[in-house]
Amino acid sequence: MNTKAKSLIGVVAVTGAGSIALGIMSLPPTESIWVLLVLIVLCGAAQAVSVPLFASSSVSLAFAISFVSLLLFGPAGAILANLGSAAVHAFYPRRRAWYKMVFNAGVFTTSAAAAASAYALAGGVWPVRDLLSAVVPAGLAAVIYFWLNTSLVALALTLTTGASFRTVFNENHRWLIPQYLTIASITLMAAVGYQSMGPIALVAFSLPLIMPWTSARMYVAQTRTIIARNSELVDVNDQLERANTNLQQRIEQMGTLYRVGLALNQSLELHEMLSCIVNSLKDLLPAHGVAVFLYDAQHEELILTEHVGLSVQYLAHPEPSLDGPATRAIREKRRFVMDGASSNPDLLSQAAANEGVVAAICLPLIAGDEVVGALDITFSEPHIFNDNEFTLMETFAEQTAAGIRSWQLNQQVHGSYLSTIAALVATVEAKDPYTRGHSERVRDLALSIGNQMGLSRDDVDTLELAALFHDIGKIGIPESILGKKDSLTEEEWQSIRRHPSIAGAILKHIPRLSGTIPIIRSHHERPDGAGYPDGISGGLPTLSAIIAVADSYDAMTSDRPYRLAKSKDFAISQLKGGAGSQFDVRVVEAAIQVLEPKARTGAQLHVLEL
Ligand SMILES: [Fe+2]
Repeated sequence: MNTKAKSLIGVVAVTGAGSIALGIMSLPPTESIWVLLVLIVLCGAAQAVSVPLFASSSVSLAFAISFVSLLLFGPAGAILANLGSAAVHAFYPRRRAWYKMVFNAGVFTTSAAAAASAYALAGGVWPVRDLLSAVVPAGLAAVIYFWLNTSLVALALTLTTGASFRTVFNENHRWLIPQYLTIASITLMAAVGYQSMGPIALVAFSLPLIMPWTSARMYVAQTRTIIARNSELVDVNDQLERANTNLQQRIEQMGTLYRVGLALNQSLELHEMLSCIVNSLKDLLPAHGVAVFLYDAQHEELILTEHVGLSVQYLAHPEPSLDGPATRAIREKRRFVMDGASSNPDLLSQAAANEGVVAAICLPLIAGDEVVGALDITFSEPHIFNDNEFTLMETFAEQTAAGIRSWQLNQQVHGSYLSTIAALVATVEAKDPYTRGHSERVRDLALSIGNQMGLSRDDVDTLELAALFHDIGKIGIPESILGKKDSLTEEEWQSIRRHPSIAGAILKHIPRLSGTIPIIRSHHERPDGAGYPDGISGGLPTLSAIIAVADSYDAMTSDRPYRLAKSKDFAISQLKGGAGSQFDVRVVEAAIQVLEPKARTGAQLHVLEL
């Protein structure tokens, strides 16, 4: 409270004390004092049931009763009735601070004393007897009382809030002027009537005063009910907005889960699948980073397989401790939550702390009863997880685990197929000791040629399998033909020429190897159309042409039943000689680059000219 406000309270307190002394000194005769006591009690009661409207104003019958007291008992009546009103105001409906009690009592009594003085100076007498002669003094007293009372209150608000006096007065008190003048008029008539008719006049004239007060009270009560209902509506609206926001988030989450599900169904590539999952989670949550670990049960270690948002420094030591949250999540098959505020902050590693991570959640990835990995989500701010987020992350963990398990099973099946086919190849080669190791050598040379030609990753993968299994069809050729040392008959040659077709019949049941079937079928075709089994010319698959060159080179440089191995130079010269007719020119060029790394460009041009 500032000095000016304190000064105002002090001045009002002094004038109030003087006013109370004036009231006591001018008490009426003893036989009339009980009427004054009744009026004082009524004034206090009226104050208790006043109807507050704005910050510092109210509708009350206290002014009417104190004004009657003025007209019947002069200064003593006005001042003591207002003192009764101030006493109730000090404690009801709540106890007020002592300086407010003092200030309000001073305002009430000072205003009453000033009004009574103005009444007396204007010729007013008490008890009032004549209506006409009392109009001017009573009107003056009412104006003085209203003006002083409201001005002191407005001045106090001005000094304590900084608002202008005009603004405070207009907002809180101006609207009370007609009410005060009306109350003063009715009260004057009631006082005059009391002198001639007794208390019945007070009762009769109180009705016009009670009715507006009753209306105001009902209006305020109704208004409060409306405000309360409006507040409820605002609360309901807020709840609807929050529900709508949550619904939008759930829709977004469901959409993301749907896209992740599609990715899992459409892709058997582990990296592609996990990349979709970590990036989707990073988009849905305010996460710093998301990582997926695969669990190597044999070596009991975690392998960081996919991540987003993590630094190189963190990736070097993501979880060095065996007691880290991801390890414990796997070991105990339950999620570990570190919200950064209350739970398990000591589980975060030093690497995580250096990364700025303060909160994290680790979920085990469990497919069936088998733990296949862990999902690690980190936050750079404390994060209190809600049920919706837990549900979302658990669902992602289930999807991820199912995807990883599916990929692992697919790898196992693929490996099993390859092992089976490799065994078949070994069987074929076992039938002909001269071709032992032939398939692996053809694969190695074909891959070198393919890389030299700049094949795509997918083509290289297909080339590797096709080269490895290119002669699998020979399993259907009699051993007597394969190992025959003498020249083959035409019928035997026809049998040999069926092996590319037989390969297709064997491999068509293995989806992973279906892409190799047309490559293997054409590995004995020639650009000039003299090949087999279809005798096509031009437009041969590049991968078939590569296998043809690698196959011929290895055949020439290996011992056969009917001849010894030829030299490398001889084989290369044969390749050059067959370029354009037996072999694809581009493949021969690449093969020479592989077989003769120091081959000069001139030699390549020579080959191209053949
Ligand atoms: Fe072959």
